[in-house]
Amino acid sequence: SRGFELQRRAGNFSKAAALERKAIRATAVEAEVEQWTADKLIDASEEFKAKALIKSREQYDEMYKRSVEDPDGFWSDIASEFHWEQKWDSSKPASSWNLDVRKGPIYVEWFKGGKTNIAYNAVDRHVKAGRGGETAILWEGNDVGRDRKLTFQQLQDEVCQVANYLRSIGVKKGDSVTIYMPMLAELPVTMLACMRIGAVHSVVFAGFSADSLAGRMMDSKPRVVLTCSAVRRGNKVIGLKEIVDKAADICSKQGFDVERVLVYDNENAISREKTPWKDGRDEWWQDRIPSFETESPVEWVDAEDPSFMLYTSGSTGKPKGVLHTTGGYMLGAATSFKYIFDYRPGDVYWCTADCGWITGHTYLTYGPLLNGASIVVFEGVPTYPDAGRCWEIVDKYQVTLFYTAPTAIRALQKSGNSFVTKYSRKSLRVLGSVGEPINPNAWRWYYEVVGDSRCPIVDTWWQTETGSILITPLPGAWPQKPGSATLPFFGVQPAVVDENGREQDGPCSGYLCMKAPPISLMRTLYGDQERYETAYFAPFKGFYFSGDGCRRDEDGYYWLTGRVDDVINVSGHRIGTAEVESALVSHSMCAEAAVVGYDHEIKGQGIYAFVTLMEGVDYSDDLRRQLVTTVRSEIGAFAAPDVIHWAPGLPKTRSGKIMRRILRKIAANQLDELGDTSTLAEPAVVDQLIELRGK
Ligand code: PRX
Repeated sequence: SRGFELQRRAGNFSKAAALERKAIRATAVEAEVEQWTADKLIDASEEFKAKALIKSREQYDEMYKRSVEDPDGFWSDIASEFHWEQKWDSSKPASSWNLDVRKGPIYVEWFKGGKTNIAYNAVDRHVKAGRGGETAILWEGNDVGRDRKLTFQQLQDEVCQVANYLRSIGVKKGDSVTIYMPMLAELPVTMLACMRIGAVHSVVFAGFSADSLAGRMMDSKPRVVLTCSAVRRGNKVIGLKEIVDKAADICSKQGFDVERVLVYDNENAISREKTPWKDGRDEWWQDRIPSFETESPVEWVDAEDPSFMLYTSGSTGKPKGVLHTTGGYMLGAATSFKYIFDYRPGDVYWCTADCGWITGHTYLTYGPLLNGASIVVFEGVPTYPDAGRCWEIVDKYQVTLFYTAPTAIRALQKSGNSFVTKYSRKSLRVLGSVGEPINPNAWRWYYEVVGDSRCPIVDTWWQTETGSILITPLPGAWPQKPGSATLPFFGVQPAVVDENGREQDGPCSGYLCMKAPPISLMRTLYGDQERYETAYFAPFKGFYFSGDGCRRDEDGYYWLTGRVDDVINVSGHRIGTAEVESALVSHSMCAEAAVVGYDHEIKGQGIYAFVTLMEGVDYSDDLRRQLVTTVRSEIGAFAAPDVIHWAPGLPKTRSGKIMRRILRKIAANQLDELGDTSTLAEPAVVDQLIELRGK
């Protein structure tokens, strides 16, 4: 917004005037939205509330009270609705934990000793209850007209076939399996097949590069990798098998050989002949899977046995393998889905997330299927063939519950209302948002245009680590405030602490922590209990620390204000600035890099990289492109920097610490808010950086 000041300083007066007009217009829009937001508490209609599972604040208050005063009783009642091959010992407490590093190792346990299986509960249980003919998966391909439907019976058959295949190649309970697949129906099928046999899946988002995939494989050492020849997303074809081969080569050089790769033949994207192949290691899904029996024994696992791992970025070091277990995760996923989306039989639910992220695990696959919901699995992107695709799909399948990310909402908003209003959308009942704070402007558009001012919006706050939603509206129970995730879900006990780790009362701002473990909280970081404790429990003793800042208002509503660590949130994807920096410095001409986030109209946050080159190397656009390409290949396209800012030097303290606060201000173009620069080792570098802005 302050671009005009820079232009004016540079003498570009007409450009400065145009930018200034734009800034004034933007401010006016924001002011209008703010007015609208301040005026409105948005409540569901009386009709909605009457039919909702949780109809009022009083009903919630009562359930919430029990969930925190008697968590064992609360969750035991819910657990009894699921199948347990062997019940937990109900003469003992259902849970035990320690979240205080001063009192010994951190641990969380729920229903230990009980034996169950998530895949059985998500699939077979419904078939056994006579619902095998009901729709489980509605698969919608990238290209209009390609679709497929699976009933719960068909889903069970396919899961069993893949489970039998996995067993046939020696995969056992506790073994790790890497899944690098696009959004085919076979992706949730494969996840469920792993769960059925007690294998621990590690889904790697199929947008990660070979290097990233290799890093995750080196960490978890999978028995097998399941992938796909290639995929079409929008107009692009991505050769996934080629990426897997590259990753396997990288692993091989580091002493780990992948024994087997199962490849789904996606002839819509590439032919078999053109797919790179390694005899003896690779096999085609279509040549192997159909020959297996459609029945397969269930591996009953302990409630505290691992269910899956999923890598996520932290503020330092390599991505962390978040490890979830079985009983608590299952109950957290199922219960939160049921109440937050106000699920009732017959609902058609669509979550636009990719299974490569936690949202695709908990709210595309496990949460809804545990409730017996019909889910839409969409292979494509919301803007292909045009920005109306989502609403076309909503009408086609009569979607009732829709869950997406603010970045998608903003992108669609920008494309114009006609793409939305062209479709009926009458089937919609609840709209959800996840992944980053939703700005009131996007909230309003989602509510008024997409939902015709009829559908409550659930702005759900949670994390890979928490496994399921922790702070959220319950759509029929209390009014929403645009931009606030509102109140804690059952059993969730947030604490807002100050920098000394003291819990604050009433309206306040601070660091968002949990004072009791949410039932689906991760149990450790794969192979690194020490990092688990230092990253999440050491910062504020006695609490789980989320890494987020937040404000609690006079109504007790929570407003998430973003990460307080060096993690940025780009289009709802979590990226560690350290990861991008290490990718940049892997380029031979890059001496040093410092990465910060900045406000981005569509992505929420963009990636802004300050780069210092090796002595004697000149700045050039070509080099800029090379640096971006390096990040794409080291991490993935979604982590590519939006801005490369040449930096002859970086602002450092005398002890050599980079002052990111100053870099954030320069990235945001808030040059008059740089603050005290006198403690810098070389204050002049700041002027140099300002000089090079936009060059
Ligand atoms: O900063 C918060 C933000 O996303 C982070 C978690 O990222 P990830 O583990 O990738 O999981 C994303 C999907 C749950 C959080 O620390 N975040 C997530 N949801 C919201 C949010 N920030 C504000 N409002 C939300 N609803």
